[in-house]
Amino acid sequence: MSRIGVYKAVVFAVGCLPLAAVTASLFADPTPDPYERLAHTTGEFALRFLLLTLLVTPLKDVLKLKRLGAFRRTLGVLAFTYTFFHFLAYMVFEAGFDPAFVSEDIAQRRFILFGMLAGVPMFLLGVTSNNFAVGRLGRKWKKLHMLVFPLALFAALHFFMSVRGDDKGEAVFYLAAFALLILYRLGRWGLRARRRRAAAA
Ligand code: HEM
Repeated sequence: MSRIGVYKAVVFAVGCLPLAAVTASLFADPTPDPYERLAHTTGEFALRFLLLTLLVTPLKDVLKLKRLGAFRRTLGVLAFTYTFFHFLAYMVFEAGFDPAFVSEDIAQRRFILFGMLAGVPMFLLGVTSNNFAVGRLGRKWKKLHMLVFPLALFAALHFFMSVRGDDKGEAVFYLAAFALLILYRLGRWGLRARRRRAAAA
């Protein structure tokens, strides 16, 4: 394995530690509410890794560190892993794998709808984050992975709506951070398109 491959494996292993810790804590002491602990930890870390994934490009630009790009996929896969366990926790503890319950819940609780709007594209991106899919999809892969931007906004809205009471500061932070990162990417694309046009003229 190359040195960068080792670093990526270490980042992934360290990134999985909170998941391992919360799972171990459920076995050690299933009280008080195991679902709440699992939903909270997996949801929080899914958002954190999503934020880190989207931060890679601006950090790469600012720090002039091309190699940072190699970690984007690892961080994205961590965001997907946490979302998968978050969804699984919901399906096991809340929905009991009952499709009728899920569709009713989506219709009744808007934050669940937004969770799904973020979760479905996250699943698509997660299952296509391997070399085989990158090779098969070719140019379409890049287009597909643009879904990360709307999904980040849906995820932050899902979090915002799930918070009961006034303690919405953290959710507002994620909404603002994702909005800024999207604006940065739009600006970056605009600048590159202008440079290409100028070079072709
Ligand atoms: C896949 C579909 C999803 C479902 C069914 C779902 C479901 C839920 C549920 C039931 C809660 C608990 C709300 C409560 O009772 O307090 C929750 C909270 C949360 N979810 Fe999701 N979610 C989904 C997707 C996502 C995604 C994609 C993210 C982030 C990338 C996310 C991040 C969060 C966060 C941060 C919380 C708040 C955790 C806390 O502070 O307790 N969710 N979600």
